[in-house]
Amino acid sequence: MLNSSEKIIPQLAAQLLSAQRIVVMTGAGVSAESGISTFRDSEDSYWSQFDPMTLASLDGFSDNPQRVWHWYQWRRQQIALARPNPAHVGLAQLQRRLPLYLITQNVDGLHQQAGSQQVCELHGNIFINQCVSVSCNYREQHQDNASDLITCPQCQQAYLRPGVVWFGECLAAERLEAADLASRDCDLFLSMGTSAAVYPAAGFAALAKQSGAQIIEINPAATPLSEHADWVIRAPVGSVFERLMPLLS
Ligand code: OAD
Repeated sequence: MLNSSEKIIPQLAAQLLSAQRIVVMTGAGVSAESGISTFRDSEDSYWSQFDPMTLASLDGFSDNPQRVWHWYQWRRQQIALARPNPAHVGLAQLQRRLPLYLITQNVDGLHQQAGSQQVCELHGNIFINQCVSVSCNYREQHQDNASDLITCPQCQQAYLRPGVVWFGECLAAERLEAADLASRDCDLFLSMGTSAAVYPAAGFAALAKQSGAQIIEINPAATPLSEHADWVIRAPVGSVFERLMPLLS
């Protein structure tokens, strides 16, 4: 296993240029350098401060929809101030030039803001609202001025909730299937800025490895994936892309 030596960024560039099919899996660490909190890697991260079952589960919403809505509203405001960092921008540029399939666990939309056209948003998007009733299929783009709970304009019976996946919920089948297929079919899998702790997202690297792909992790900290990776780059992903992109231009 290689670590963060001077040679590793040129090696990453070479690997990207020679790969036939690349899958990139991003997590909250990719947006950390844009000023958005992560979930579980520091004292400031969300799940160090707040109970995930209270704020990110259907039971939590049923118990107190107002509390959950306001927490997401606060996160939306934090995200609205954030701008894509060199990792988001670099990935968007690479997607235009290389056969790169982008899977993200992030719900912040920063990959799209950086110019990525195709993003498999495994955990949904925080700027979508959807009816909490399973028998109603209403979805809408969140409006900035909608700070209070909204009753569904279609069924008029239930509240709208953020269009993100909560604990205990299934991921959208078409996104799960697309991510699964791409991972089984790639020859290079890059995991960046994720603690590789939440399934099914954390399982895609193993599928890629079983199919013979090289696995590269970019993360300043060790994760359960690290020991299975062929290379590990122990550095913040934004700084890695600042050094990587000039080598690819
Ligand atoms: P985590 O908060 O679990 O992990 C963030 C990872 O990013 C950690 O491993 C950090 O070491 C790493 N990291 C921090 N800063 C970084 C940087 N500048 N460059 C690279 N890596 C950095 O976030 P996720 O793995 O994305 O789910 O969490 C997975 C899911 O758990 C989230 O999508 C969310 C959460 O509960 C839902 O909301 C459904």
